[in-house]
Amino acid sequence: MTRTRVLDLAALPPGGVELVVVRGMDVALFRRGEEIFAIGNECAHKGGNLCDGRVEGDIVTCPLHGWEFDLRSGVCMTIPGETVPHFTVTVDDGGIYLEESA
Ligand code: FES
Repeated sequence: MTRTRVLDLAALPPGGVELVVVRGMDVALFRRGEEIFAIGNECAHKGGNLCDGRVEGDIVTCPLHGWEFDLRSGVCMTIPGETVPHFTVTVDDGGIYLEESA
């Protein structure tokens, strides 16, 4: 996947969450301090919106049934083997760029 500009950095203040669409996929952006994380928005369980989840540290909790996902890797902490896509985030020239990670 090529690097895609998805949002102006100014639109995502520290603590902020934004939903963007990358090649037809809903992606949730989370800004924690100066770090920005990006994972697929759709929960691997039954499609809950992870952008509406509660964030503590590097973990987001799905608002529907409480599965937890690591914002850095997309790995589910609740059910072994479950994941959501995750993206490498870079900031360049005032913009946020995503690239899908393996
Ligand atoms: S849809 Fe996310 S935990 Fe059930």
